[in-house]
Amino acid sequence: AERAAPRFRRSLRYETMAFLLIFTATALLTTSFTVPGSFIDLVAGPSQQAIFQPDGPASDLWTYNGSAPGPEIRVRRDERVRVRLTNNLEEPTSLHWHGIRIDNAMDGVAGLTQEPIEPGESFEYDFVAPDAGTYWYHAHNKSWNQVARGLYGPLIVDEDEVPFDRAHDLTLVIDDWRLAGEGTLDVASLGSLMDWSHDGRLGNWLTVNGRAMPVNMLNAGEPYRLRLINASNARILEIDPNRFDAKVIAYDGQALPEPVRLTYAPLMVGPAQRVDLLIVPQAGSDFVIEELSGDTPFAFAGFEVRGETADGPGVPSLPVNDLPEPELAGARTVRVEMTGGAMGNIGRVTYNGKVLEGSDFRDTGQVWAFNGIANLPETPLYSAQRGETIVIETVNNTAFVHAMHVHGHHFRVIERSGSEIDVGQPWRDTFLVGPQQTTRIAFVADNPGKWLYHCHMLEHAAGGMNTWFEVT
Ligand code: C2O
Ligand code: CU
Repeated sequence: AERAAPRFRRSLRYETMAFLLIFTATALLTTSFTVPGSFIDLVAGPSQQAIFQPDGPASDLWTYNGSAPGPEIRVRRDERVRVRLTNNLEEPTSLHWHGIRIDNAMDGVAGLTQEPIEPGESFEYDFVAPDAGTYWYHAHNKSWNQVARGLYGPLIVDEDEVPFDRAHDLTLVIDDWRLAGEGTLDVASLGSLMDWSHDGRLGNWLTVNGRAMPVNMLNAGEPYRLRLINASNARILEIDPNRFDAKVIAYDGQALPEPVRLTYAPLMVGPAQRVDLLIVPQAGSDFVIEELSGDTPFAFAGFEVRGETADGPGVPSLPVNDLPEPELAGARTVRVEMTGGAMGNIGRVTYNGKVLEGSDFRDTGQVWAFNGIANLPETPLYSAQRGETIVIETVNNTAFVHAMHVHGHHFRVIERSGSEIDVGQPWRDTFLVGPQQTTRIAFVADNPGKWLYHCHMLEHAAGGMNTWFEVT
């Protein structure tokens, strides 16, 4: 099941080491918009980009405004984000603002919160971003296809008083591409049932902000914030911040009360998850960030440290967002049992009101289920009263890890069988649940509307791991 990919990965990797010498200020690569009073225009359409090597070959991608990732959108907390999305693709699309506690009508889920935006049409997104932190936006119609081709970008919400200036605040949007032999995007394998029923579309090539192995220059002794965003379809990035002496300051956009030095490794950053790291580089300590899940480490971002360590400025602290605290006493528990996938038993499954049997699984691509239902059921998983605390107990009866995402709310991870890594019950919007593991999350369902709960391994979502709840 695992990793036909990393072998390819490894052989490609050595060729890029030469490009270590190309210095790129990663953060400056993408145009960044500070929100004006009017709409920002995003155009989803085909474009070409060299993702393997900077000097080609170019892949045919689908992007926002001509590059993957799309432009960094940056606003201050409580400011409005106004984006006009125009669809120049040949299929319908929509745009989701991942991790934002958003007005439901702006959540961008085609088929649930809005009609898909047809080719040639546009849609105006207009919402307030209530929490500071690291977020991202991505296509939410056939996302297994559209995100894999490059339709995503960063959304950064600044604190009321910006703790790190722009030179010390670097956004790293990481993607795991599947390249074919010549180093261009492997389009032929999109939608492969093999990927849907195993661990999703794993790639063989990592980029940061659309480039292979960019190298950033840092000043010794000065504190930096590195915002890592995992835009992969399915790759769980495994990194070890202790290898470069970094601390965790935020998960999924939500600042921790104090910077944390991890006592375990690796840190798993699942698809759609973010982690903000704090680093104060010391003179002469050039470093790389490596992805550790393959047979050999894959360095995907380089940092060169210049100057001497002087008495640098102090480390700014991050204010914690004001999120509604779940009240566990008397909370309603909702159970979600995951079944399906290769090496698993899916049991009795209904899809679109019909019981699947025999070749139906292959024909529909529905190979996963939540509580015996594949993909969006007619009726919600549950219906919450506004303000009610909900505990979701997710029981993973499959042979694979899943990256579960709740739309419109942040939750605390309150319990995980057999593991104590969620120290301090961090706020998250996406969590990993291991094979045969049970994880409990809790949150206040305070945002009216219809919200998805799905696996962010995008092939799993398409293959059945998609449900929704309602807050009234
Ligand atoms: Cu990142 Cu349903 O979304
Ligand atoms: Cu999954």
